[in-house]
Amino acid sequence: MKVVGICGSHREESTTLFFLKKALDVIEKEGIETEIIELWNKDIRPCIVCDQCKKAYTCSQEDDVMDIYEKLVNADGIIMASPVYYAMVSGRLKNLMDRSLPQRRNGMKLAGKVGGAIAVGASRNGGQELVCRQIVTWMHLHEMITVSDRVTAHFGGTGWVPRGTKSEDDQTGIETSVNLGKKMAETLKRLE
Ligand SMILES: Cc1cc2nc3c(=O)[nH]c(=O)nc-3n(C[C@H](O)[C@H](O)[C@H](O)COP(=O)(O)O)c2cc1C
Repeated sequence: MKVVGICGSHREESTTLFFLKKALDVIEKEGIETEIIELWNKDIRPCIVCDQCKKAYTCSQEDDVMDIYEKLVNADGIIMASPVYYAMVSGRLKNLMDRSLPQRRNGMKLAGKVGGAIAVGASRNGGQELVCRQIVTWMHLHEMITVSDRVTAHFGGTGWVPRGTKSEDDQTGIETSVNLGKKMAETLKRLE
């Protein structure tokens, strides 16, 4: 079994990556392989609505997106993590989500995979739960099975890193991300 974590941050060594790693560390400890794909250094262009994917499992654009989706199609679980941008997912993650039409139109290739969400913002009520919902809603449109964390937050991992603080300071963010990882591992094993 394998879980792929998508880090939607626009920068290296990000707060989003920190919380994503917390979830994936737990999954690794449960004996499940994990891989992180960071988007900050990838070429992810917007969908241009050319409709090539209506005719075949292809995309007219030659960037990094189809390679990322090959990994997601071969995974059993997917965690998408995003910084909160104006209470929405990051632009890079949104581009990646929109580019999933080939997977949806050609046999629902992500259906049945277990999915979870993590969102990280600088404000305490900055839209983390909204961003988790956006990710989970996208997963539902792909007929994925979604999990949230076990007890402390109900939408997934929710990180809060105000300016001048460190990700390590946010115990609630760590706890919700760890619990999301536990829930994903538990669900994958139950479905095995
Ligand atoms: C364009 C932009 C919009 C942002 N909007 C929000 C917001 O709506 N709510 C919030 O809590 N934080 C907001 N932030 C702060 C980031 O979500 C926060 O700094 C986050 O930790 C950055 O994640 P990263 O370390 O992965 O880049 C915004 C930051 C940027 C650059």
